[in-house]
Amino acid sequence: MKIAVIAGDGIGKDVTAEALKVLKAVGEKFGRRFDLEQLPWGADHFLKTGESLPPNGYDLLRQCDAIFLGALGDPRIPDFGYARDILLGTRFELDLYVNWRPISLLDERLCPLKGCTPADVNFVVFRENTEGVYVNIGGRFKAGTDDEVAIQEEINTYKGVHRIVRHAFEYAKANGLTKVCMADKSNAMTQGHALWQRVFKELAPLYPSVTATHYYIDALAMYMVLDPGQFEVIVTNNLFGDIITDLAATFQGGLGMAASGNLHPGKTSMFEPVHGSAPRFAGKNIANPIGAIGSMALLLETLGAKQEAAAIDAAVLRAVKENQVTSDIGGTLGTREAGDFIAAAVLTMRSDE
Ligand SMILES: NC(=O)c1ccc[n+]([C@@H]2O[C@H](COP(=O)([O-])OP(=O)(O)OC[C@H]3O[C@@H](n4cnc5c(N)ncnc54)[C@H](O)[C@@H]3O)[C@@H](O)[C@H]2O)c1
Repeated sequence: MKIAVIAGDGIGKDVTAEALKVLKAVGEKFGRRFDLEQLPWGADHFLKTGESLPPNGYDLLRQCDAIFLGALGDPRIPDFGYARDILLGTRFELDLYVNWRPISLLDERLCPLKGCTPADVNFVVFRENTEGVYVNIGGRFKAGTDDEVAIQEEINTYKGVHRIVRHAFEYAKANGLTKVCMADKSNAMTQGHALWQRVFKELAPLYPSVTATHYYIDALAMYMVLDPGQFEVIVTNNLFGDIITDLAATFQGGLGMAASGNLHPGKTSMFEPVHGSAPRFAGKNIANPIGAIGSMALLLETLGAKQEAAAIDAAVLRAVKENQVTSDIGGTLGTREAGDFIAAAVLTMRSDE
């Protein structure tokens, strides 16, 4: 497997080192070779060379089987332009239309919701990843004056909505799940979100084994907190998905625990922890590496290495159960020591554990 690795900035570098450590352990345990293409893209590279990524950068990524990204963002470059080129650029150029965010609680003590157990927090969010307000269409008129007008368009296409909603139903069917909930704001956004309603109603009858439900996004946010156990698969647009998955990450123990994939099924896809570069924590051996390590498991699972992915998940569960974790989730270990524990657990775990 050829994997492009962009460690990026801040704690992205710290957590990527741990994800690669665990990947090495997986390679040893299962006799697999991973060919890593380490790419230096990020703030330092931009400040040194003036380029976010080289002209053939996206092609370089396309030639790999998968991409692993740490995180991007650096206070020296407040406009985030170079990071947008790398992160959003890759999502758009490689047409990674599925943002896949599994939400599972590994231990009751990590959840801030009263009385919630792992059985209550186990669902998947699919966020549309290539349209919505993130296409950056709009403009500012009379900028900087009292008459300023700012327009930011939201794009919803039939093709774009159809393929993400279909993916949610297909995922449910393939994984024996019986519930898909679509969230929009069609009561207020009566044009764009009428399209989501149309597509959802077109697709739902094609999946008779799945119960299709709908919430407006504001109600969904409330029900996620009140009764997360009712959800199995949630599908929503780019902006709403961005917001609710950070909320959902808190159910798992915080941003440090959350993993994600940016997929174009069948093509090169990108995997990254949900968190950003947390510059205050960078290089201090504080950051929780579990979100990054979990993202590596999603990468392996997507490439068909299911046993390897399961071994990582089991090792992470052991680390959480034995509290061999970083301080954000109640442990005393540093980033590197938490990574060491998980890598060692991968190597020593029996297949029935
Ligand atoms: N995908 C990405 O690369 C991505 C995502 C979000 C933000 N960003 C960028 O990252 C930079 C910092 O953004 P931010 O501070 O809003 O978000 P952030 O996710 O970097 O950090 C927010 C807070 O969450 C906690 N946190 C995050 N990751 C953690 C981890 N692994 N372990 C323990 N605690 C963790 C910390 O308390 C941190 O202060 C900005 O430049 C932002 O644009 C990048």
